[in-house]
Amino acid sequence: MASRVQNPIQNRLWLLSFSTSSSSSLCNSVSLKKTRFTNRTRFTNRSLFGKRMSWSSSRRNLYCTCSTSRGSTMDSNTSPSSGRQNAEPFVITTPLYYVNAPPHMGSAYTTVAADAIARFQRLLGNKVVFITGTDEHGEKIATAAAACGCSPAEHCNVVSQAYRTLWRDLGIAYDKFIRTTDPKHEAIVKEFYSKVLANGDIYRADYEGLYCVNCEEYKEEKELLDNNCCPIHLKPCVAKKEDNYFFALSKYEGFLGKMLSENPEFVQPSFRLNEVQSWITSGLRDFSISRASVDWGIEVPNDAKQTIYVWFDALVGYISALLNDGEQPNLQTAISSGWPTSLHLIGKDILRFHAVYWPAMLMSAGLQLPKMVFGHGFLTKDGNKMGKSLGNTLEPTDLVQRFGPDAVRYFFLKEVEFGSDGDYSESRFINTVNAHLANTIGNLLNRTLGLLKKNCQSTLAVDSAIAAEGNTFKDAVEMLVTKAKTHYETLALSSACEAVLEIGNAGNLYMNQQAPWSLFKQGGAASETAAKELVIVLEAMRIIAIVLSPVTPSLCLRIYNQLGYTEDQFDTITWSDAKWGGLKAGQVMAQPKPVFSRIENQIEDGNGGETVKQGSKEKENINQNKSPIEV
Ligand code: MSP
Repeated sequence: MASRVQNPIQNRLWLLSFSTSSSSSLCNSVSLKKTRFTNRTRFTNRSLFGKRMSWSSSRRNLYCTCSTSRGSTMDSNTSPSSGRQNAEPFVITTPLYYVNAPPHMGSAYTTVAADAIARFQRLLGNKVVFITGTDEHGEKIATAAAACGCSPAEHCNVVSQAYRTLWRDLGIAYDKFIRTTDPKHEAIVKEFYSKVLANGDIYRADYEGLYCVNCEEYKEEKELLDNNCCPIHLKPCVAKKEDNYFFALSKYEGFLGKMLSENPEFVQPSFRLNEVQSWITSGLRDFSISRASVDWGIEVPNDAKQTIYVWFDALVGYISALLNDGEQPNLQTAISSGWPTSLHLIGKDILRFHAVYWPAMLMSAGLQLPKMVFGHGFLTKDGNKMGKSLGNTLEPTDLVQRFGPDAVRYFFLKEVEFGSDGDYSESRFINTVNAHLANTIGNLLNRTLGLLKKNCQSTLAVDSAIAAEGNTFKDAVEMLVTKAKTHYETLALSSACEAVLEIGNAGNLYMNQQAPWSLFKQGGAASETAAKELVIVLEAMRIIAIVLSPVTPSLCLRIYNQLGYTEDQFDTITWSDAKWGGLKAGQVMAQPKPVFSRIENQIEDGNGGETVKQGSKEKENINQNKSPIEV
């Protein structure tokens, strides 16, 4: 059972030796925590996203100094983006990934989602800082390095690079990549630690408990399965006894509870809020923030025998990542480049660290809180969380090589409801991307361009705005664009994809109903109508290319190229370009070329028996969407 034996004499001596004002540090000791929170009436954070909260610490109280200088137009809207002024960057983070093993699809999932959200924010015209990186300290990493016979530093270099390579292959456009072994980060962590210490929130004590090395966390006995197994990693926890430094988390219980009840949007999806609130109401225990037994880490300031706990170290990476090249590594400089974050995107397994520990640490250091923490679900295989420790991972590099980045990005964002768990199967993967990307979208574009080439020398006859005057298909497209925007804003990424797919479906239906191939055969006025119908469908394709670009950027670039635009033009599109009317008379389209090839693959079924030809199920759908002419 976990037990902590506080050593007040030792604590006091220790505090005396590291504090600038020994007497006030003693006043600050956690034993006085009950009396230090009397001034709660000054905690007036009306809206986490509306006002910037800054926690100033004084010797006797903590208080909020809400600043209305930026983002003050926001109120209760749950969107992390709504109401932001363009001057204020949208700062989004992924977790910093452990480098004990190369990335798997579970870790790539968070980053793909973050990239889609970041791209959407850029489309809105917002300055975005998209932060990712690697978490490189701690016992788990040291053990992994030893197992492969190299030094921890060498091991970290190799695995951290594997993450960067995968992000490149998946088309991830991050702005900052932080490594927790970067000396600049180490300097910031030490400064952060010193602020928390100066606020009287660090003390020394003995600790005895059960530790999960994979979670890098002490566990409560009641959380564990039989044989003291961690419920996430299904491996036994190990008994540990250590003399550590502790963070006085319990001191922040009241503040965290109040902050969450006043800003319930802080935890997303909303159904995860209860869990966080119940952790708090059932009592927060101080946690150990140093390790005496781990060498591979950042030294505790003024105690070379201890290293800083890997989570206390890594969370601060969200701040140190903000430093620009050549800047002095100090908290103030980093913070002025965009803190606080608009959105921490994480998996649900690390919600406690982000929605409880991290806000408390920030309050202690007198810093503003992030605006939102979103805990998505797990990618599972056979119902179990896909993970390095369970050895049931899916190789993202392999998926990208076989199917391309758009297919991978689209499948996981469209088919897994963001926030819930989702199971992967190769047949579902292939069926989905074939049906949606190759058929509904790719084939519609290809056959329309084919008709335009055959009948109009690939040139648009009329402005799309004029072609669609009074057209109900245009109205439907506009409504779906609005829908997609709302879904992106509320991080309902699957529904955003669905709205785009509906544009494709409506476009196919429209083509089939208007049957321009027959009209061309009639000639005269009917041909003019047919040429106009093609412009209408191609305008819808142009809009699809914009609205789906956060999810499948390279596919959308190919669509844009087919419509006669350059890559530079694609790079400068904004959401407002999704308004109907972009295509103009005289614009020349490229030679029709499939933008997404169907995946034709022979795989063995799950029972190890019969071989099935993938993609065959979609053939019926394709035929439904094909014009009855050869193009
Ligand atoms: N290093 C910490 C994070 C520190 S952030 C300051 C960590 N790293 S991790 O590599 O183990 O996990 C990173 C992220 O990947 C977590 O959000 C985790 O939820 C996510 N995933 C790992 N396996 C996953 C699935 N099978 N499915 C979805 N996401 C999963 O935790």
